Amino acid sequence: MNSLEEKSIQQTADFVKKELSGAESGHDWWHIYRVWKLAQRIAVEEKANELVVNLGALLHDIADAKFYGGDETVGPRKAEAFLKTLSLSQDIINQVLNIIRFVSFKNRNEKPENDSLELHIVQDADRLDAIGAIGIARAFSFGGFKQREMYNPDIPPNPDMSKEEYKKSESPTINHFYEKLLLLKAMMHTTTGKQMAKERHAFMEQFLEEFYAEWEGKK
Ligand code: ADP
Ligand code: NI
Repeated sequence: MNSLEEKSIQQTADFVKKELSGAESGHDWWHIYRVWKLAQRIAVEEKANELVVNLGALLHDIADAKFYGGDETVGPRKAEAFLKTLSLSQDIINQVLNIIRFVSFKNRNEKPENDSLELHIVQDADRLDAIGAIGIARAFSFGGFKQREMYNPDIPPNPDMSKEEYKKSESPTINHFYEKLLLLKAMMHTTTGKQMAKERHAFMEQFLEEFYAEWEGKK
């Protein structure tokens, strides 16, 4: 990358950091930071367009539709207005907007015609941040925020929930591992992402084994 591109990335990081100050902890600046670093690494290994991946990772959660009455257009609009203030070509801007639109769509799998390597990389990085040690920490932090039980052996997980049931679910945090976190490994796109997910997945399985053993006083 040239120095102009590096400057655009730095300006974007500064913008996002400012925009997300005070955001809830699941999608705060540090989530963006981790996804950004992961995406950078995957982009190099997968020989993707690094400028597009950097900008897409930084801007991927700029406006969570949850906080705008489900309006999925706020994020891309905010991002476009900002990107236009930088010295970038319209082609680059369009590629970044494609990432922001489709990474956050709950129905992301329904739009395969918009897939690009760069979108896949940011999706992989976003999913990696939901698993492994960080994923475990995020899940319990979310559960605590929602005042959910950590675990309740009497409430079994339900991995076949509909989208509506999923949103309303009050189930214990451990169930979230079976309803979402342990399913992410199979959804990875890139070779690098798959490899990293494998390690993080194994770590979660080990965590669960230890958790159940300690729960029953066996360890
Ligand atoms: P995304 O970032 O993919 O939009 P969410 O907003 O659903 O995901 O979740 C943000 C973080 O909170 C993730 O790490 C996710 O695993 C966690 N989380 C979401 N729902 C639950 C839940 N029911 N129990 C525990 N953690 C959850
Ligand atoms: Ni994200």
